[in-house]
Amino acid sequence: MKYLVFSDIHSNLEAFEKFSGLKRARAVDRYLFLGDLVGYGPNPNEVIDRFRELSGVSFVRGNHDKVISNLESSSLFNPAAAFSAEWSKLHISEENLRYLKDLPRGPAVVDGFITLCHGSTFDEDYYVFSVFEAAESLRMMENSIGFFGHTHFPIIYMLRNGKIDVVALQDSCKIKLDSNTRYLVNAGSIGQPRDKNPNPSFVIYDSSRREIQFIRFNYDYATTQRKIREAGLPELLASRLESGV
Ligand SMILES: [Fe+2]
Repeated sequence: MKYLVFSDIHSNLEAFEKFSGLKRARAVDRYLFLGDLVGYGPNPNEVIDRFRELSGVSFVRGNHDKVISNLESSSLFNPAAAFSAEWSKLHISEENLRYLKDLPRGPAVVDGFITLCHGSTFDEDYYVFSVFEAAESLRMMENSIGFFGHTHFPIIYMLRNGKIDVVALQDSCKIKLDSNTRYLVNAGSIGQPRDKNPNPSFVIYDSSRREIQFIRFNYDYATTQRKIREAGLPELLASRLESGV
């Protein structure tokens, strides 16, 4: 079975459309989405509409999905995130608001052996940025493989014999999975990459071959930047698309 894992689209229509049209993104059996359809970008409705057209997707909600659908307040967000959340609330349709509100809370278990979460396996909003945080998340994970989003930083944490190893995912690397190791994988972000590379990324997990492949692609971020500026969203959100931080 081939699973495509992707995360954090963040209302970036150009990145999401390019992703949806990629041959490699279509030659899979299932999609696994890790949350944050909206926030930051200028096209929340269009992104939700296109996302709903995908079939065979399992998913969990992200923190921006919760705030924009009024399940939580934006008071804990940084100023640019809070501004874009409030802007999104004003522009999102009633129907899409209801769709966001009904997105399921993570973690979720898919096909009995894959864990999906936005932040961590024990708290959907918790950031896994370090080996210490990854260890907690791995300890609470009931399966030997799990995927998380939220940090927008593509990485794999591997737990074997009580020790954690880390591999930052780069270029188009392939990793063979070993049956004595537990894996916690971040596929990066479609709409707001933050590992100093503006190209969006995703992961293909082939469960039969026990292999993970990391894939990056480029897209027309200048158009997204222009739309962000025209919408009056914070300049930081536009410049980040170019710097990838
Ligand atoms: Fe996010």
